[in-house]
Amino acid sequence: MKLPKSLGVLSVVLFTTNLKAYAESLVSSPGESSIIPGWRMQSVTQIKDDMSEISQPGINVSSWYEVTPRSTVMAGLLDNDVYNETDLFYSDNMEKLAGQSIFKAPWIYRKVFTMNPSNDQYYTLRTHGITSKADIYVNGVQIASSEQQQGSYGGHKYDLTGHIESGSNCILIRAYPTNYLRDFAMGFVDWNPYPADNGTGVWRDVEVIQTGAVSMSPLRVITDFEKPDSSSLVNVTLKTDLVNHSPRAIRVEINGTITGPIKADTSIVSGFFELNAGETKTVSMKSTIRNPQIWWPATWGEQPMYVAHVDAMIRESQLVLSDSSVRKFGIRHVSSYLNQHNDTAFVVNGEPFQVLGAGYGPDIFLRFDEDRVSNIFQYMIDMGLNTVRLEGKQEHPELFALADQMGLMVLAGWECCDKWEGWEYNNDADGVKWGESDYPIARAAMLHEAEMMQAHPSLLGFLVGSDYWPNDRATDVYLDASQEMDWQSPVIASASKRGYPEALGPSGMKMNGPYDWVPPNYWYGDEEGAAFGFGSELGAGVGTPEMNSLKIFMTESDLEALWKKPDAGLYHMSSNVSSFYDRYIYNKALFARYGEPSSLEDYVAKCQMADYEATRAQFEAYSTRQNASRPATGTIYWMLNSAWPNLHWQLFDYYLNTMGAYFGTKLATRMEHVAYDYASQSIWLINHSLENEGEREISVDLIDKNGKKIWSTKTKTTTSPNSSKEAISVQKVDDIEDVGFLRLTLRDTKAKKDLSRNVYWLSPAVDVLDWSESNWYYTPVTNYSDYTELQSLHSASIKMTLRNTQLDRPAIGWTSIEVQLENKSKTPALFMRLDIIDSKSKKEIKPVYWSDNYVTLWPKEKLQITVVYQGDAKDIHIEASGRNVATQTIKKSIV
Ligand SMILES: *[C@@H]1O[C@H](CO)[C@@H](O)[C@H](O)[C@H]1NC(C)=O
Ligand SMILES: *[C@@H]1O[C@H](CO)[C@@H](O)[C@H](O)[C@H]1NC(C)=O
Ligand SMILES: *[C@@H]1O[C@H](CO)[C@@H](O)[C@H](O)[C@H]1NC(C)=O
Ligand SMILES: *[C@@H]1O[C@H](CO)[C@@H](O)[C@H](O)[C@H]1NC(C)=O
Ligand SMILES: *[C@@H]1O[C@H](CO)[C@@H](O)[C@H](O)[C@H]1NC(C)=O
Ligand SMILES: *[C@@H]1O[C@H](CO)[C@@H](O)[C@H](O)[C@H]1NC(C)=O
Ligand SMILES: *[C@@H]1O[C@H](CO)[C@@H](O)[C@H](O)[C@H]1NC(C)=O
Ligand SMILES: *[C@@H]1O[C@H](CO)[C@@H](O)[C@H](O)[C@H]1NC(C)=O
Ligand SMILES: *[C@@H]1O[C@H](CO)[C@@H](O)[C@H](O)[C@H]1NC(C)=O
Repeated sequence: MKLPKSLGVLSVVLFTTNLKAYAESLVSSPGESSIIPGWRMQSVTQIKDDMSEISQPGINVSSWYEVTPRSTVMAGLLDNDVYNETDLFYSDNMEKLAGQSIFKAPWIYRKVFTMNPSNDQYYTLRTHGITSKADIYVNGVQIASSEQQQGSYGGHKYDLTGHIESGSNCILIRAYPTNYLRDFAMGFVDWNPYPADNGTGVWRDVEVIQTGAVSMSPLRVITDFEKPDSSSLVNVTLKTDLVNHSPRAIRVEINGTITGPIKADTSIVSGFFELNAGETKTVSMKSTIRNPQIWWPATWGEQPMYVAHVDAMIRESQLVLSDSSVRKFGIRHVSSYLNQHNDTAFVVNGEPFQVLGAGYGPDIFLRFDEDRVSNIFQYMIDMGLNTVRLEGKQEHPELFALADQMGLMVLAGWECCDKWEGWEYNNDADGVKWGESDYPIARAAMLHEAEMMQAHPSLLGFLVGSDYWPNDRATDVYLDASQEMDWQSPVIASASKRGYPEALGPSGMKMNGPYDWVPPNYWYGDEEGAAFGFGSELGAGVGTPEMNSLKIFMTESDLEALWKKPDAGLYHMSSNVSSFYDRYIYNKALFARYGEPSSLEDYVAKCQMADYEATRAQFEAYSTRQNASRPATGTIYWMLNSAWPNLHWQLFDYYLNTMGAYFGTKLATRMEHVAYDYASQSIWLINHSLENEGEREISVDLIDKNGKKIWSTKTKTTTSPNSSKEAISVQKVDDIEDVGFLRLTLRDTKAKKDLSRNVYWLSPAVDVLDWSESNWYYTPVTNYSDYTELQSLHSASIKMTLRNTQLDRPAIGWTSIEVQLENKSKTPALFMRLDIIDSKSKKEIKPVYWSDNYVTLWPKEKLQITVVYQGDAKDIHIEASGRNVATQTIKKSIV
């Protein structure tokens, strides 16, 4: 275990500098920008505290840590093997770093780079946020102070022109330590233990930009599209802020194109503009797009993108390029409104858009890996989720580009609590109350983030508050800044109904919990977080990883505590000051409903069932009420994923292994689906589609624990788009003696294809909620459902066969296999989990996309499930196991 007590004893890390890479000028032509390609990083406690001196080229820093362009202090130390991630994440090892003095002092980031500045060229340093704040020096001169360069989202431009020289130049950043209560940072509130450095450092790019006398800001794109068919023309306006850096008046010519997904659809943009010496001017250029290709959320259509590319030219003795700008955008329209119940509802391209989403967690050390985020979003799409909520975790431009490309909507916004919500009227959180100097920091953050996000079609809205609404002055600051950036998406006051600023009106979003375990029928109630209105962050708190993942980060005794000490505080739950530090509420219900666990394996298997039941019920209930008299307009599961290996609040684990919570969600959000309402015992037909066609048949089968029929029926039906209706009532639920199984099948009779198949385990009595005792995070249960009989089902035997299949859209490097499960017994085969393992590495393949999983088979039933994965695993084995089915494995070679 490599955990030094203090970094003072660090070994010196040596690197051979590749001189050749730096010999070329970082930027050399107008319109070019380049990020500082990495840093040397060191604590101020280890070096001479004279920034003017050490920000000169020629200082020997070979003993400093070499880190990537975006690297918090902790991320840099991990990259340099000062810490080992596997060790740090193991058990409570990370606790040993908490409070170390090295993280209370500033850290220096330094880089020497080559420049070759030319006459009449202008150079700008662009930051995108440094945590918590920073002083910036170039070649011995301070060019920015931490008064201005503040906040994780504070992006600024600094003039470099007079500061750089031909040859070697040095930039140095002194990043100050972060306190979440005092600074505008990216904190974790009660999500997990805090990173030892509180995310301090250069976590976003720092860029050097070259332009001629006139520069452009990133393009902003405004379209007047509202809904398909309203017009075959869309007016597009491109806006930019021009700056004349020179001491003379200049006439600028802007020329460019907007290229559509089909190259032939290119339209021209152009304009002439006059700028006085030193003048800044916002200009716009108009263009028209004929037969626009509309961008849709993934469930409803394609994601065509347009590219605007413009050049700013200056006519001197000849026409010369001064700056150049490229921006991708999509044509779509989003809006939101408060319905007659004061609930927020969203509309995308004229269609009511029910939000089925989850809350995103960045990496605990803010390391950003585009492939990882792409996998996370792919999992969201696979689960049928349509929206990701970023609560003050705006990450990087790549995140929004991925969402655009995949058709995932993004609800961005500021984070709760901490400094961000230091309002006089907020007594729930300890954030330092805002003072005079805080408003400019908030303004810079809003301007920067709005500029970054403005053109992305995936943007569904921005929440300027979370648990609390901003005060009137801050609201004005946020609104002015977003208008300055031509923001077109909804801006919402907060994610809760506590109060609101006049300028924005009520948020229409509720934050009444739950965050901890509640039974499935909770969601069919009409109080608190139940399925009505817009639930901005809620769920039964579930998300227990499967066994293999647990073993990566927990010791034997941690694992034992998990099932033997149901009320133990656990380091891999929320932070130790939160209400979610133990699994007491969850375990109490689990033990009562499923029976006291007999082993760790038994505990984890029962957790998977409870988690599956919980996420399914939430998403089904919200779906069934999408067009109810008080519609369920949206639900954001709390949360999607975790910042580090965690035991709850997630739909898949940190290692990207899926679990019960994942497949409960995936089943519930199917485009066309049938769901059981535990409260009314009726079956709902759910339709999220806009245009699927045809006649549908619903089959209902209720059996007892031995597979004996209790009741069954079939019925034909159709619904309208985007709506749900009660189709039929389940009878004889009361005839269930101890535990029974209900299977619902929705069939497309014309295509002879099952669209959805959904199995419930039911007990004769549902859980009884004590609504009056609800608090902000859960509603207690006075009488639990009894599923303990599931422990003594007769065992079932399953025949498993595999065959290669074709993907719907064949893709290089992807493999698809069909698994057929056949229940040879007269008893149901309960909660069969399928797992695919690379025979060579003996590890689970991930990411992996199962069409279905954790399935319960009827006696003699055959079921086909497909698994799709990308990668080079040629020899795999598939493992199947169920609550009453012994584990079996089949090997397969992919040819
Ligand atoms: C830089 O310092 C290291 C020790 O920290 C030393 O080994 C190396 O020779 C020095 N390089 C130069 C060019 O002086
Ligand atoms: C980190 O530690 C783990 C287990 O202790 C080890 O397997 C792994 O190789 C280490 N990683 C590095 C980069 O040293
Ligand atoms: C991190 O922020 C918390 C407040 O949220 C503070 O208590 C703690 O001291 C900070 N850690 C460091 C290293 O400054
Ligand atoms: C586009 O702008 C023109 C005027 O510039 C206007 O007449 C037309 O109605 C606009 N088109 C749409 C779809 O709004
Ligand atoms: C650039 O735009 C101007 C102004 O609209 C136009 O007169 C000129 O022809 C354009 N030049 C090129 C090269 O397209
Ligand atoms: C909606 O909010 C307004 C004021 O914000 C209030 O007057 C009205 O009674 C509310 N309506 C409902 C149905 O709660
Ligand atoms: C909670 O965590 C903090 C910081 O990691 C630690 O200082 C404190 O002792 C812990 N408290 C308890 C009750 O475990
Ligand atoms: C929701 O839509 C379905 C199908 O069109 C319809 O039968 C039902 O009445 C609608 N519900 C409400 C409350 O309007
Ligand atoms: C869902 O709505 C579409 C569009 O109206 C319709 O064609 C389809 O049959 C509906 N699905 C069901 C299950 O009724």
